[in-house]
Formats: sequence, structure tokens, C-alpha cells
Amino acid sequence: MTTVEKNLVQTEEVSGLEGKVVVVTGSSKGIGATIAKELAKQGAKVVVNYNSSAAGAEKVVGEIEELGGTAVAVKANVSNLEDAKSLIEQTIAHFGKVDVLVNNAGITRDKTFKKMDEKAWNEVINTNLNSVYHTTSAVINPMLEQKFGRIINISSIVGQAGAFGQTNYAASKAGIIGFTKSLALETAKNGVTVNAVCPGYILTEMTAEIPENVMEAIVSKIPMKRMGTTQEIAEAVIFLAKADYITGQCINVNGGVYM
Ligand code: CAA
Repeated sequence: MTTVEKNLVQTEEVSGLEGKVVVVTGSSKGIGATIAKELAKQGAKVVVNYNSSAAGAEKVVGEIEELGGTAVAVKANVSNLEDAKSLIEQTIAHFGKVDVLVNNAGITRDKTFKKMDEKAWNEVINTNLNSVYHTTSAVINPMLEQKFGRIINISSIVGQAGAFGQTNYAASKAGIIGFTKSLALETAKNGVTVNAVCPGYILTEMTAEIPENVMEAIVSKIPMKRMGTTQEIAEAVIFLAKADYITGQCINVNGGVYM
């Protein structure tokens, strides 16, 4: 078999998600919940990670099982290194491996910078950015050893364009983009791809907190004149989970508001 043929066989092997083991952080609600459900529909075995909403996580697991899928809820505060390690250890104990890690957990603590105290800064950096270090450091060696891995980080348009009242959130999401590109360089030759999805303004509980007048101004600037859906983000994640020759990229799913 020529090298080209061997490469094509490898590509075919990773074209589906049947039997793949996926961890989605912060998937008891919002974008994470939809990602978990859609990956399960593709045949993946899913770990639904939550921090405080056990009921939300169990609901997501129940919905996956109703459709004939496989999922388990695991509590872990991914802003804490030991908890994140335990999340990955529990996944490997339960399903034997981790193929896809979706770093989705994220919070906002919006305030203009003058009013932003250290607590609001640290909570956002710890939950959104340090969590990515925590989970990825726990999963990277097993992925490199099995010569297969998909790390998909949920960044944001705010990490690219900035947003009024979001210096902490923007810093965390921009940090994720830099992390994604750098790690992608380090792991590419071992079959581990690292990519990001940058959602624009998506209909979730998080964006429901944006004041109405601010929201109207935001939507008026979106070329498609509407917010996105969690489904539309999940579709980009599935694409990256299946893709073999894409790494270090950030896919914008934002209705054209940032190009
Ligand atoms: N643009 C311009 N000026 C704004 C503004 C905005 N978006 N929001 C507030 N201001 C102005 C106010 O009118 C006020 O002006 P004056 O001093 O002249 O009266 C000044 O800024 C300060 O206002 P506040 O005292 O109300 O400021 P605050 O520190 O309490 O913060 C805020 C207010 C948090 C910024 C609030 O306006 C807000 O929540 N804005 C929305 C932030 C946002 O877009 N969040 C996105 C959440 S969704 C998400 O993050 C997901 C994702 O990835 C996209």
C-alpha cells in the first residue's frame, strides 16, 4: 500500500463518531447541552459534565438515552485542577478512553472595567480559560498515546472583536484561541487536532441576561439579523470532531457579524 493509500484508509476510519468517547464540559444546559445531545446522535458515548446543575445534567443524559444513545453525568468543577483530572479519570474508568474533549464550560461576570473587581476577573479566567488547561492537561497524554484526539474549544466572537463590559470574558476567550493554535502545532504529528469554535450571539440563558436595549443594538449589527441557535454551534463541533486534516483553526458561527 502506498503512503497516499494508507493516509486515505486512516481518514475513512475517523469519518464517523460511532463508539467515540466524548467529554463535554459544562453540558447541563445551553450550548454544551446541545453539543452533548448532537454528538450522542452521531453515535458517540458522552460524558455530560456539570458543576452545580445535577438536574440539568440528568435531563440531558435522559434525553440521550431516550434516543438510544449512551451518556453519563459527571460532577466536576473544571476551574479546579483536581476536579478536572478526576473528570477525565472517571471517563477513562467508565468508557476506557477519551477521543473528543469539548471545552465548553464558561461564565460571564459583565461589568465595565472600572467597576470590575478581582473576584469577577478571576472567576471568569478560572472557569473559561484555566479550565481548558486543567482538562486538556489531564487528557493530552492518553490522546497522544492512542494517536487520536479531537480537542474542540468553545471560544467566542468576543475573544476576537471585544465587547463593552467584557474585558474579563474577552481575555479568557482570546486566550483560548492562542492556546488552540499553539497546542495544535505541538500535537499535529500524533493525530491530535486542536480547534476552536467562535460562536456569535446565540440564544441561551447567558445572552438572555443582556439588557434588552443592548441586545437590540447587537442584533441590528448582525448581517443575518438574528441570533444563532445552539444547534448551529453543535453542527460546527460535529464537523471538527469528524475532520482529520483541520487543526489550529477557529470556525466562526456568527451570522456574519465578524469576518
Ligand atoms: N455600549 C456603549 N456604552 C454602554 C454599553 C454598551 N454596550 N453598555 C453600557 N454603556 C454605557 C452606559 O450607558 C453608561 O454610560 P454613561 O456613564 O454615559 O451613563 C456607561 O456605559 C456605564 O454603564 P453602567 O454603569 O451600567 O456599567 P456597568 O459597569 O454596570 O456595566 C454592562 C453595564 C455590564 C456593560 C451592561 O451594559 C451589559 O450587560 N452589557 C452587555 C454586555 C454583553 O454584551 N454581554 C454579552 C453576554 S453573552 C456572551 O458573552 C456570549 C458570547 O460569547 C457572545
